[in-house]
Amino acid sequence: MPTSPKSKVASKKREHRKAEFRSKLKVTPPILSSKKFYGHGIPEISLEQLTGKLIVLEGADGSGRSTQIRGLVDWLEGNGHATVQVGIKRSTLVSEELERAQEGNILSQTTMSLFYATDFADQLENIIIPSLKAGFIVIADRYIYTLMARDLVRGMNRQWVKNLYSMALIPDAVYYLNVSPQQLIQRNLAKTQSLDFWESGMDLGMTRDMFDSFVQYQHKMQQEFLRMQKAYKFKVIDGDRSLDAIYEELKTSINHVLAGNRE
Ligand SMILES: Nc1ncnc2c1ncn2[C@@H]1O[C@H](COP(=O)(O)OP(=O)(O)OP(=O)(O)O)[C@@H](O)[C@H]1O
Ligand SMILES: [Mg+2]
Repeated sequence: MPTSPKSKVASKKREHRKAEFRSKLKVTPPILSSKKFYGHGIPEISLEQLTGKLIVLEGADGSGRSTQIRGLVDWLEGNGHATVQVGIKRSTLVSEELERAQEGNILSQTTMSLFYATDFADQLENIIIPSLKAGFIVIADRYIYTLMARDLVRGMNRQWVKNLYSMALIPDAVYYLNVSPQQLIQRNLAKTQSLDFWESGMDLGMTRDMFDSFVQYQHKMQQEFLRMQKAYKFKVIDGDRSLDAIYEELKTSINHVLAGNRE
């Protein structure tokens, strides 16, 4: 397919950025560290063969995950490390059906949870694990924690949710971009001029005002994330700061993780 002048300029810019990264903070060569599942995991997987690293960025809608991931991928690839990106609702197996089910708002909470869990399991088995086996640095734009927090604020049983996701692999690092609901509103409006029905928790029927609902819902989600912080060992990143301040903190921390430490 012929490339447009615009995309040529964008790809030149990215190449330039990658070259710039090569001369700045170098990426620590990854040191092998053992992997584990949270619980029963997936059968027949030899964990010692998973030589890559799994790095997760969590955070609310508009918290800045994609922006940071773009920079991190350029930094890592600019230093010669192959990366793979995954995110929720991206499996080829059920993502379209999930979208349609959401549009109709027709599924019960349990079915919806299982639908999301299926999407996650598909990506875990078919993308994350094979990529880790091939030694890639896998960057996950959200992981099981968003799915668990969404279920929990909708009143699902904590133990049931924990069991459901015990198939997941424990990441090498989890960063939670903690952004205040007020900042989130500004960033979402600047980006899309609208708030998302689900990310505003409108299905919970707390209030008919979408802005009020968004603030209340995001506050509940934030509380759930902070509650999970200790058990799942998140590093909480103050996401109300500038892009560059967050980016520098992430790069320093990822270097520490690649050196075989845990965050
Ligand atoms: N630290 C920051 N300070 C100010 N604006 C920011 C910051 N980080 C991101 N933004 C802006 O906020 C908006 C949302 O950022 P981004 O798309 O990276 O978030 P996201 O978490 O990936 O959102 P989504 O959940 O929609 O995928 C963008 O317009 C981005 O430029
Ligand atoms: Mg994004």
